[in-house]
Amino acid sequence: MASSEQLKALLKSHIDGDETQFYSVAMQVAAHEAKVGHGKLAEELRTMIDSAKIRSSSETVKRRLIPLAQPRGELANLLEVSYPHNRFSDLILAEALEMRLKRIIREQRNFSKIRSHGLDPRRKILLVGPPGTGKTLTASVLAGELGIPLLLVRFDALITKYMGETSAKLRQVFDAMRDVRGVYFFDEFDAIGSHRGMSNDVGEIRRILNSFLQMIEQDDSNSLIVAATNHPEILDHALFRRFDDVLEYGLPNPQQIISILKNRLVGFSKPIKDWEGIAAKGEGLSYAEITRAVRDAIKDSIIHDRATVTEEEVKNNLDEREAFRGRNHNH
Ligand SMILES: Nc1ncnc2c1ncn2[C@@H]1O[C@H](COP(=O)(O)OP(=O)(O)OP(=O)(O)O)[C@@H](O)[C@H]1O
Ligand SMILES: [Mg+2]
Repeated sequence: MASSEQLKALLKSHIDGDETQFYSVAMQVAAHEAKVGHGKLAEELRTMIDSAKIRSSSETVKRRLIPLAQPRGELANLLEVSYPHNRFSDLILAEALEMRLKRIIREQRNFSKIRSHGLDPRRKILLVGPPGTGKTLTASVLAGELGIPLLLVRFDALITKYMGETSAKLRQVFDAMRDVRGVYFFDEFDAIGSHRGMSNDVGEIRRILNSFLQMIEQDDSNSLIVAATNHPEILDHALFRRFDDVLEYGLPNPQQIISILKNRLVGFSKPIKDWEGIAAKGEGLSYAEITRAVRDAIKDSIIHDRATVTEEEVKNNLDEREAFRGRNHNH
C-alpha cells in the first residue's frame, strides 16, 4: 500500500492542479510497490501512468495549437502570445489582495457553472500600483493557473498615426477574445486610458479610449481582460466601473520582504539569524528590486565558486539597490 504521505502528496498535487508532481508521486508509489514485492501492481500502475501521460500531453498539444498558434495577418502584430507556467505560489502578496486574486481564479475555474445560472464570473480586471510589485507577474499567473494563453496587446502596433485605424485594430483584438479564450493583457494601460491625453493628438487618444470603453462594455467573451498601470490617478473615471475588480498592488511590508527573500534564497543561503535587520534594509524597495538584489548576491557567490550566500552579502546587495534607486530618483 502507498504510505499516508504518498496519498496526501497525490491528493495535494491533484488539488493544486500540478500534473508533473502528480505523475512523479504516482511513479514513486509504483516504485514503492515494486520494492515491497508487488511487481504486478507496480507494472499496472506504470502502464496506467504512461498512457495517462501520453493522453494528457497530446491534449496539451491540441490545446496549444488551436489558440492563435499562428495568428493570422495583422493580429500577429497586435498580440504577442505566450503560455506561462507561473503559479499562484510565485506571488507574494498582501492577504486581502491574495484573497481577491484567488476569488478570480476560483470563479474562472467554475466558469460554466456560474454562467449556467445566468451570472458572470469576474473577468475584467484592473491592476494598479507602483513598478515591480507583481502586476505583470499576476497576468502570467492567471494564464498559468487557468492553463490558457497570455496575449499581450502591443500598443505600439495598436496605436498608429492614421486616424480611425486604431479602433479597427482594437476591434480585431476584441474579436480574438471571443475566438480564443485567454488572458488579454493591456500593460501600461494609461497609454490609452488616460483622460489627459499623453499624446500630442489628444483627440485621437480620446477616440481610442471611447472605442475601448464601448468594446469592453459590450464584451461578453469567455476571456479575461487584464489592464495594468502605475498611474491610476490619470485614468479616465468612466473606466473604473467597466472593470469587475480593481486590484491595488503595493510595496512589500517587512513580513513580505522576508517571505520574498526566503523564497528567492532557497538552496543558496546559510541559516539567516537577523531577518529583521535584513527586512529593514529592504524597506521601501519593490519586490522586483529585492528579487534583483538576491539574484546579484547569488551570482556573486557562483562566480566565486561559493555554494552559499551570506547574510552580509544579502544586506550589501539590498543597500546597493537602495542607492541605485536613490540615484535614479534624482534624475
Ligand atoms: N508580488 C510579488 N511576488 C513575487 N515576486 C514579485 C512580486 N512582484 C514582483 N516580483 C518579482 O519582480 C519581477 C517583476 O515584477 P512585475 O513585472 O510583475 O512588476 P510590475 O508590477 O508589472 O511592474 P511595472 O509596473 O514596472 O510593469 C517579477 O517577475 C518577480 O520576479
Ligand atoms: Mg508590468
